[in-house]
Amino acid sequence: MLDDRLQAVADFVPEDSSVADIGTDHGYLAIELFKINNSRKVIAADLNAGPCQAARRTISEAGFSDSIEVRQGDGLAALTSGEVDTVCIAGMGGKLEADILEAQPDVTAKLQCLVLQPQNGFEYLRGWLYDHNWHIEDEKLSKVDGRVYQIIKAIQGHKEPLTEVELILGPVLIEKRPAMFAEHVQNNIDQLDKIRQGLQKGGSHTKDRLAKIEARIKLLEEYTL
Ligand SMILES: C[S@@+](CC[C@H](N)C(=O)[O-])C[C@H]1O[C@@H](n2cnc3c(N)ncnc32)[C@H](O)[C@@H]1O
Repeated sequence: MLDDRLQAVADFVPEDSSVADIGTDHGYLAIELFKINNSRKVIAADLNAGPCQAARRTISEAGFSDSIEVRQGDGLAALTSGEVDTVCIAGMGGKLEADILEAQPDVTAKLQCLVLQPQNGFEYLRGWLYDHNWHIEDEKLSKVDGRVYQIIKAIQGHKEPLTEVELILGPVLIEKRPAMFAEHVQNNIDQLDKIRQGLQKGGSHTKDRLAKIEARIKLLEEYTL
């Protein structure tokens, strides 16, 4: 059984798609994706040997060694262009997830759907998507051990760039205001508030940055209502 974070990732993968789980680690997500549709192609890939070994073990214990291929490789270099139509990247920094997509443009260009669960760097990742002909079709929040996670489903196609607040909070999350949205906004405010407190001790050379952070806090506070 997956936790709510990885279940939310699995739920966003189109049921008839072929899929690669990049940074699979334990392989749980790849197994769940195969269980949902056992006629689809599922590839579990990881940069490091240890996680590949762990994934092979879990996949073998689940009885799916003949069906789910485990590959060691750096990001999308583990795939050939057009081999799958959907890629999941979960549990890494948003910047790293964007770098992985950017590093293999031939593979990325042939994908139809991305399911991303960044741990941080949300603004960077959302901005990257809109700068590279992707847009966000859906977003979800899920909570595990008191921490709220953001899950992003993106598809190909140009759309107008996101506003500052959409980059931070997520355009679909703002529109849908799901359960945990208030907590999501407050988490962002709390993080900025910590930065603000640090900058307040910094003296006059931090004045401009402090003003930007305070403006951003004000902007987000509009979404706590
Ligand atoms: C924190 S784990 C996340 C595991 C799983 N995706 C999850 O969300 O529970 C990150 C995994 O990404 C792998 N990883 C880091 N950089 C990678 C890259 N460039 N390409 C593929 N895998 C990578 C690490 O080896 C590690 O197994």
